[in-house]
Amino acid sequence: MTVLPILILPDAKLRLKSQAVKVVDDKTRALLDTMRETMYDAPGIGLAAVQIGVLQRLVVIDVSRDEDARQPLHFINPKIVWQSEELSKYEEGCLSIPETYEEVERPAQCRVKFLDYDGKDQEIECDGLLATCIQHEIDHLNGVLFLDHLSRLKRDRITKKFIKAKRQESVS
Ligand code: NI
Repeated sequence: MTVLPILILPDAKLRLKSQAVKVVDDKTRALLDTMRETMYDAPGIGLAAVQIGVLQRLVVIDVSRDEDARQPLHFINPKIVWQSEELSKYEEGCLSIPETYEEVERPAQCRVKFLDYDGKDQEIECDGLLATCIQHEIDHLNGVLFLDHLSRLKRDRITKKFIKAKRQESVS
């Protein structure tokens, strides 16, 4: 199994839009396997391909948080087709923005169309943590980070902290 390094803010690639997957083949599945292992290794509950530098619309999620009974979900070209008017708040984090957690308000439920690991059409209803997580990951595919849902003041403060950390890392 392969584990790849995860891109960290302010990596410019995180702001790029990912491209739709045209053919689901063994290469796609190998990439999903690598993403899944990278997510478990981190550890995290969701990962978009852009976070390992691949600009394809691929997402892996496992909100079960149970190492002995893992329930990975693989999403190819996920698309939100419905969102509830009801909102919910979760304290979100992101593997690309380590050790940073902020409350984000999003639709509490959503319905998502996607292709699964075998390339078959699927549609699921999401609520709770899964709804939050899939919306967060689909944001990644569009170059959007959870910071963009915060106030400008908070976003700027966090971004500056990471720019400074990067600068210190490059001089040391
Ligand atoms: Ni994230």
